[in-house]
Amino acid sequence: MNLILMGLPGAGKGTQAEKIVEKYGIPHISTGDMFRAAIKDGTELGLKAKSFMDQGHLVPDEVTIGIVRERLAKDDCQNGFLLDGFPRTVAQAEALEETLKLMNRKLDFVLNIHVDQQLLIDRLTGRRICKECGATYHLIFNPPAEEGICSKCGGELYQRADDNEETVANRLEVNIKQTQPLLDFYNNLGYVKTIEGDQEISKVFVDIDNLLKELV
Ligand code: AP5
Ligand code: ZN
Repeated sequence: MNLILMGLPGAGKGTQAEKIVEKYGIPHISTGDMFRAAIKDGTELGLKAKSFMDQGHLVPDEVTIGIVRERLAKDDCQNGFLLDGFPRTVAQAEALEETLKLMNRKLDFVLNIHVDQQLLIDRLTGRRICKECGATYHLIFNPPAEEGICSKCGGELYQRADDNEETVANRLEVNIKQTQPLLDFYNNLGYVKTIEGDQEISKVFVDIDNLLKELV
């Protein structure tokens, strides 16, 4: 299955991706995670991405398209992939269509998780992530069993650098502008399935899973 997860920052893309990957075994390709790993490792890519991310801006298309093309060429993507946070612009979507055509592949669904904007600020500022395994929690909506500690692996939880209130507001503004043209692009191709993201985490997954079952 060849999937894209779309949704504004905080819609629950990363949270649902964990569940999709666990059940269907396809690789999770998150451009945000790839940039954060590069920043942590101090690579050239990380240096390029950091200033954009810290301000809540998008990383330039040419950088982002390049890393996704390389990633999709890896062996583990042969049976499918789950793109999370890519594409985010029409130029990225066009580049992806071109890449998939060259690979003789086609998208199955663009899963668009919809959540009202007012809820997203609370979701993002309350988010905590495991340093060891990357699992996502929320101080109120999805707390770990023990404060500050990952329930899955015991790792320490931290807050993302771009989850402060100021950057969150800018990230939302930037992404809202990009979203409609991208949805129009994929609606024209007939791929979009909209999921109601303002439900319990497990219920959102049931809705996604009902769509994915059709593909296997
Ligand atoms: P990226 O890492 O992709 O971040 P994002 O799109 O801002 O999305 P998030 O990861 O913040 O949100 P999410 O939807 O995954 O939410 P989550 O599941 O964690 O991008 C970061 C930056 O990288 C960008 O700003 C940009 O600079 C750069 N970048 C990345 N891709 C790029 C691209 N293609 N082009 C250019 N630049 C790019 O959930 C959020 C919180 O809510 C969690 O705490 C969770 O526990 C909670 N939660 C989730 N679901 C629910 C629910 N149903 N009910 C209650 N709480 C819930
Ligand atoms: Zn963990």
